[in-house]
Amino acid sequence: MNLKGKNIISIRDFDKKQIELILDTAEKMEPIAKGEKTSKLMEGKILGTLFFEPSTRTRLSFTVAMQRLGGQVMGFVGKDMTSIAKGESLTDTIKVVEKYCDLIVMRHPIEGSAKLASEVASKPIINGGDGANQHPTQTMLDLYTIRKLKGKIKDLNIALLGDLKHGRVMRSLAYGASMFGADLTLISPPGLEMSRDVIREIKERFNVTPFETNDIDAGVRRADVLYICRIQKERFEDKLQAEEMQKTFRITPEVLEQCKDDVVLLHPLPKVMEIDTKVDEMKCAKYFDQAFYGVPVRMAILGLLCGVVK
Ligand code: CP
Repeated sequence: MNLKGKNIISIRDFDKKQIELILDTAEKMEPIAKGEKTSKLMEGKILGTLFFEPSTRTRLSFTVAMQRLGGQVMGFVGKDMTSIAKGESLTDTIKVVEKYCDLIVMRHPIEGSAKLASEVASKPIINGGDGANQHPTQTMLDLYTIRKLKGKIKDLNIALLGDLKHGRVMRSLAYGASMFGADLTLISPPGLEMSRDVIREIKERFNVTPFETNDIDAGVRRADVLYICRIQKERFEDKLQAEEMQKTFRITPEVLEQCKDDVVLLHPLPKVMEIDTKVDEMKCAKYFDQAFYGVPVRMAILGLLCGVVK
């Protein structure tokens, strides 16, 4: 199987075998990601990082992944200091930037922007998040984290809790976890349920019918993995409504008392107020480890897309 030159626009672009190749390659990358071994696998290669929206983990873990493999990084955060601020189109920007580098990771607020970029680029485009649509490399690192911490994905109950309407991470993960044979529980405030298109698709493709609820207590009891995301306030027209939901839809030590003893708590981060800070110290809280796993997984992705690992 060869992923050289492949775009990563949506988790739907990948089958289970291809994702397993990425996860298995990431396992081998871990000593390099931790700085225990050095590597020059990506020497001479340059990654373009085009971030039109804020990011800490996605941008920095791609940067570190490239640097740990001996490659280099160039790019920008925010369009204000680029010629897009003067009216240059996204497609012209991509056509130019691809001449400066070997592959591009891009985050953009508009759904479909990564696909558009891939249609004009001859180098691989990696979607680092396009609006509320997809965040496929986050899903790959989430699946890696679950497999590491639980030893498997199949037959686990993975509960997705929070703003399932706007959370691109949740859409991607619902698809990815279903592909691997997990059961899904979907817990959201009323009005922020998962898109019916996603529900229909995972039923048709993987025969997964999620248990859906607006009641945190009813949902969390089922979970082997409790995956939380923040209320995406920036995507609300009514910011006050978002703030109300932020205050009420939260995970606290009391909520966790109802969970299975070995539940694992994940979050793509950044978290705002949806997890009580006391939870950070509990043994179930694994979201900072999860953020680290983004490095070996993105090393694997970079190496496979550039054809320097097979
Ligand atoms: N998980 C994630 O995408 O984090 P950033 O927004 O900081 O990149």
